[in-house]
Amino acid sequence: MGEPAVEILSFLTDHFGEDFQSYSQSLAEKRIAERMKQLRFTALAEYREFLKADPDEPAYLSRMLRIRFSSFFRDPLQFELLKSQVISSLLPVSTQGGFLRAWSAACAGGEEACSLAIIIDETLQLLDVYPKVQIFATDVAEDALEEGRAGYYGAGSLGGVTLQQLKAYFTPDGSGYRILPRIQSMISYGRHDLLDPHTYAPPESLFGGFDLISCRNFLMYLDPQAYLRVFDNLFRALNPGGVLFLGKAESVPERYHKHLVRIFECGNLYRKQLTGRT
Ligand SMILES: C[S@@+](CC[C@H](N)C(=O)[O-])C[C@H]1O[C@@H](n2cnc3c(N)ncnc32)[C@H](O)[C@@H]1O
Repeated sequence: MGEPAVEILSFLTDHFGEDFQSYSQSLAEKRIAERMKQLRFTALAEYREFLKADPDEPAYLSRMLRIRFSSFFRDPLQFELLKSQVISSLLPVSTQGGFLRAWSAACAGGEEACSLAIIIDETLQLLDVYPKVQIFATDVAEDALEEGRAGYYGAGSLGGVTLQQLKAYFTPDGSGYRILPRIQSMISYGRHDLLDPHTYAPPESLFGGFDLISCRNFLMYLDPQAYLRVFDNLFRALNPGGVLFLGKAESVPERYHKHLVRIFECGNLYRKQLTGRT
């Protein structure tokens, strides 16, 4: 990456006190170029000066670097496999009480957490068992978390939702849809920076590890060292026997191959082995 681009990331790191230097170089370059084009800057040095002078620009660029896009059931086959073949194995053995704890890490506006809540609810109804389900949905962006807490989604993000799910789990409201309060109540939204070197998991993990961790379409935007660092934390937060759900373009680093075993040939669902320690 050219020096000024490095400087821009280091400026954002100092400005917000958060790590922007761990995002991949190619991503940063693309995003900065895109922003410069929008503003009609041709020289990077000019844009750097603007970034330092304009009070709103750092937040704007940081949002661009942290790519917000999400949608319901993004990668429908994997969600279907999770629902039909995996969720039941994560339920507590006792039919009386017990917990199922999931973490949607880098959850954007909650589309992924709601998708998980829906398939868990469908499975519980089918099996007629009702353990307590807690889904922790975390993101670094407060405004994304606000969207999640509002639970209101435009039709554009609901592409992967079936008609049956739409009727069972959403109520039409104006030009969008509101997620059912019963589903919303399974989810707690909170801020957690996956690149924060001082913490490996949200505070909720103090009460135990997670049976299911979904961290999708975030690791792919990191440089290789940060990828490993975040992966170590996810592995640590996952209970033995628990399942890690990655994005299509993300994979398990070699040093975890023995400890995280792919559940299906096709896809990115991995089970942590019972003796899983690195
Ligand atoms: C492309 S979205 C992925 C959303 C969802 N997981 C999915 O697959 O649809 C990436 C998310 O990562 C979040 N993010 C970026 N940097 C982060 C960080 N350091 N810690 C936690 N979340 C972060 C962004 O705010 C954004 O919501």
